[in-house]
Amino acid sequence: MGIRKDESAEPRTGTGLYAHVVGWGMAVPDIVITNQDLEAIVETNDEWIRTRTGIRERRIAGERESTSSLGLKAARRALEVANMLPTDIDLIIVATSTPENVFPSAACLIQNGLGATRAGAFDLSAACSGFVYGVEMASQAIRSGSIRAAVVIGAETMTRILNWQDRGTCILFGDGAGAIVLRASEAEGGVLSAVLRSDGSGGDLLGLPAVGSIDLLNSDYVNDEHTLNKMHMNGGEVFKFATRVITESIHQALEKANLSIEDLSLIVPHQANMRIIQAAARALKIAPEMFMSNLERYGNTSAASIPIALCEAVQEGRIKPDDNIAFVGFGGGLTWAAMILRWGDPRPVDRRSEALINQGRREFSYFLVRIRASLRRFSRRISKLFGRSNRIQRLRDKADRLD
Ligand code: UT7
Repeated sequence: MGIRKDESAEPRTGTGLYAHVVGWGMAVPDIVITNQDLEAIVETNDEWIRTRTGIRERRIAGERESTSSLGLKAARRALEVANMLPTDIDLIIVATSTPENVFPSAACLIQNGLGATRAGAFDLSAACSGFVYGVEMASQAIRSGSIRAAVVIGAETMTRILNWQDRGTCILFGDGAGAIVLRASEAEGGVLSAVLRSDGSGGDLLGLPAVGSIDLLNSDYVNDEHTLNKMHMNGGEVFKFATRVITESIHQALEKANLSIEDLSLIVPHQANMRIIQAAARALKIAPEMFMSNLERYGNTSAASIPIALCEAVQEGRIKPDDNIAFVGFGGGLTWAAMILRWGDPRPVDRRSEALINQGRREFSYFLVRIRASLRRFSRRISKLFGRSNRIQRLRDKADRLD
């Protein structure tokens, strides 16, 4: 097991730095929608959904929840595990297809919610592959020496963009968020290799038409089947594409890391369909148990599915220090991506008191964020009031002049 020294096919960065996962966290809404609940919405049944997809239930965001509120919760938990402060973070990347706004980005909303005042922040659009893309971007920034630490988040409220009359898609998706903290270290390990791929010619197989990208009135893209702000999918074609690229990209990423499939302890795939995972296991000639799966409880949460599955794999003790693991994502674009990581936090175990101090400092940072937000709301109200009284004064002045 492990890396054969000096044989790594990954280009050397010259900095001698590696990007290690030192924190992880997830957040899912409390509201559960079961397959039986869906029977009341579309012509479907529990048996069909279970046997064709492996899904039993999914979570749905409540009225006061959003992509960034779920992402923020996940990021705060990840910082806690990392025992780091929001001000230690240089970069925040949110992989999402369901941001609240085109701008400000979900990443900026989360940056503000964390009080990560030294961080750059942006959203990344690569559909269900987005988390792996984001981890690779952050990892490369760390390995180049440009940044020291990053938070990468996959966060989605997929249920808000579903066409609830389309039984081919609305039964599949759920809401949630997962996050990791990546940190620079000279110790070998962390992200070992990545393969990012795309094929825009398959863009019509899976999409979410949105304002701004096209001339909506003159476009064939938005038509009877493709509705603005609602996702559409050709399930059968995406299924075939997914089974092909999982195998291919894992082999490529392993080769880049100079490892073989036997060196892997666990594969954390995008959670789309149990049958896709089973087909990939057959093609890779490995046991299906090598794949982490929690699809049964959350459905497909798009960019959030890999970090959520990762968190649960760690909780279940399925990932141990020095394990080589793989991420593999696939989805709209078309996009796909595979990554090999060596698990383990290279830092010496923190003393308890330091963890407690950092906990206090994080809480204080979140408190400041709340105070700042209340002050801003207050000052907006005041300026509105003054604005109004200025307008009234101007009207009075006008009236005076008329007299
Ligand atoms: O995250 C992005 C990546 N997305 C994916 O990876 C999704 C990949 N695709 C899939 O997971 C599967 O293609 C689906 C789960 C979406 C569909 O499964 P399928 O085995 O490919 O079913 P199908 O679309 O070929 O439909 C089979 C039958 C059809 O009926 P007929 O024409 O055979 O009479 C459908 O109308 O099942 C019917 N059907 C349903 N029946 C009950 C389709 N959806 C449902 C449903 N409940 N929800």
